[in-house]
Amino acid sequence: MILFKRAKDLREHLKSQQTQGRKTGFAPTMGALHDGHISLVEASRKENDITVVSIFVNPTQFNDPSDFEKYPVTIEKDIRLLEKAGCDVLFLPSVEEIYPDGQMLTNKYELGYLESLLEGKFRPGHFQGVCQVVHRLLEIVMPANLYMGQKDYQQCMVIKKLLEITGLERSIKLQISPTLREPGGLAMSSRNVRLSTEERSAAIAIFQALDRIRTDLKPGDTTGLKEQAFSALTQQGFRVDYVEIADASTLKPCEEWNGQDRLVALAAAFLGGVRLIDNLLLN
Ligand code: PAJ
Repeated sequence: MILFKRAKDLREHLKSQQTQGRKTGFAPTMGALHDGHISLVEASRKENDITVVSIFVNPTQFNDPSDFEKYPVTIEKDIRLLEKAGCDVLFLPSVEEIYPDGQMLTNKYELGYLESLLEGKFRPGHFQGVCQVVHRLLEIVMPANLYMGQKDYQQCMVIKKLLEITGLERSIKLQISPTLREPGGLAMSSRNVRLSTEERSAAIAIFQALDRIRTDLKPGDTTGLKEQAFSALTQQGFRVDYVEIADASTLKPCEEWNGQDRLVALAAAFLGGVRLIDNLLLN
C-alpha cells in the first residue's frame, strides 16, 4: 500500500494510472476503522483496478466540538487493517492540505429539504461539511466508483445529490454497501469504542427498536410504531433525537403507509455522551 499525505502527489500518481485505463474505487473515511469500513474496501477491490481509502477527521462536519475532540484516532491499527484488506493507496492529508489558506466552508451546496430533516435538523451544518470534504476528495481522487455505507443512509442521499449538483455523476458511480453489524445487531461504528462495556450491550436496543418496527409494520398509521420505539429507547436510558419512518427513496416522513411504498426506519440517540445512529429498510 502506498501512503500519500499531499493531494498533489496523490493526483499525479492516480493520473498516470488512470491514463493507462486503470479504474479507481474510492472509500472516504474518518479512520478508527472497523469491518464496516473494510467491507467498502472489499467491494471496491472486486470492481476496480486500484482501491483508494482516505482517512481524514473532517473538522467542518462536526457541529459538536467535543465530538470532534473525542473522535477516536487509531492510525497504526488502521494502516495494518488496510494493508491486510489489500487497499492499494491510503490518503492521509492534514487539515491544511484539504483546506488551504484556512478556507473551511466556502461553497454552499443546495441540498434542499434533505438538509432540514433527521440528521440535518439535529446536526446543523453537518451535511455542508460532509459535502465540502467529499467534493474536495473526489476532485483529488477522481474515482470511477465511490463506496459508501448504508449505515449513514441520509449521508448516501446527500452525496447522491452532491454528485448531481456538481455534475460529477457523469463520471462517478455511487455504490452503497450494506450495514455491517456486531453479533446481536449493533451497527459497527467508530464511536462504539467510546461506549463502556455496559453501554455497549445496552446499545443493541437501537437495532432492536428498529427491528420491532419492521416486524410490526402494517398498512395505515405509523405513529404508534414510532412512539413505541421512542419510549422503549427512552426507558432503556437513551436520550433520543429521533425515530422516524420514512419513504426509502425520498426520506420524507411516512405518516400513513399504503402497504406498497418502500420504507426505511431511522433512529439517532445518545447513550451517555455518545451519539449513535442506525437504520433498517422495512420492506
Ligand atoms: P466514517 O464514519 O468513517 O464512515 C466512512 C464510510 O464507512 C461511510 O460511507 C460509512 O457509511 C461507512 N460505514 C460506517 N459504518 C459502517 C458499517 N457498520 N457498515 C458499512 N459501512 C459503514 O462517514 C464518514 O466517515 C464521513 O462523513 C465521510 C464520508 C468520510 C466524510 O468525512
